[in-house]
Amino acid sequence: MSDVFKPGLLQGKVAFITGGSSGINLGIAEAFVKAGAKVVINGRNVEKLEAAVKGLQQHGTAMGLAADVRNYESVEKAFQTARDAYGELDILVCGAAGNFPAPAVGMSSNAFKSVLEIDVLGTFNACRAAFEHLRKPGACVLNISAPQAYLPMAMQAHVCAAKAGVDMITRTLAIEWGGAGVRVNSITPGPIDDTEGMRRLAPGDETREKLTRALPLQRFGTKQDIAQLALFLASDAASYITGSIMVCDGGQSLLGSGL
Ligand code: HXC
Repeated sequence: MSDVFKPGLLQGKVAFITGGSSGINLGIAEAFVKAGAKVVINGRNVEKLEAAVKGLQQHGTAMGLAADVRNYESVEKAFQTARDAYGELDILVCGAAGNFPAPAVGMSSNAFKSVLEIDVLGTFNACRAAFEHLRKPGACVLNISAPQAYLPMAMQAHVCAAKAGVDMITRTLAIEWGGAGVRVNSITPGPIDDTEGMRRLAPGDETREKLTRALPLQRFGTKQDIAQLALFLASDAASYITGSIMVCDGGQSLLGSGL
């Protein structure tokens, strides 16, 4: 990634990232650590979490806290532990998400509920539990959304419902928390290379080539593309931006659902 931001952009800041042990969220964690922030990543799988923390620690200060975002008490405990270790929180990234392609009639009620609970309830739980630990004024929340929030997609009824909910949490909290000096925004990644989401949704060379040809920018995005947007939104350069759904998708959203 080219260093377009000044060194130490997030020096002295503390960030907490749910679902931070892989994919886009780990990319954001790495960029934040390199920018000088102390970073807490959260995930369900302890081994994955430990491996990710080891990698982050090569660039700066990081720790991992295991918790299932669906369980409010364990999330609350994780924020208290993070606060005790690093102090008040400047940046919360709600990235934990579930996804699998399945037609509505091939999905059990429990399958639908699982994704809703990870994405919507998990985002609410993290925001709710973090609030008392956020630095006020000055903190910000970044909720990781998806094009499914506004593009209906076959095989994605659960994710479409969930991500629309995530974006409405963003917009509602932006109103409620603006007075406390806390900004809340969504990041909407389009097709991003080397992620579990794309492995599940666009498997195989043929699907990938078709999608690439259709995209206005004619390429998949990278984790760095998303990390750059997260760095910008977390920085003072974005101090007047709240309640925005920031799309980073190579122009995919211009195409409707006709990909
Ligand atoms: C149908 C499925 C299924 C599938 C799981 N289930 N996979 N149903 N098709 N492929 C069902 C199970 O049978 C079960 O229902 C229910 O979902 C819960 O599954 P469990 O494995 O028991 O639960 P849990 O451990 O909570 O896991 C939930 C999960 C999660 C949602 C399946 O493991 C998951 O999604 N992991 C992937 C994480 C991931 O890819 N994250 C990136 C998201 S990317 P029953 O009825 O049998 O009990 C993203 C944006 C993509 O969100 C944007 C691209 C443009």
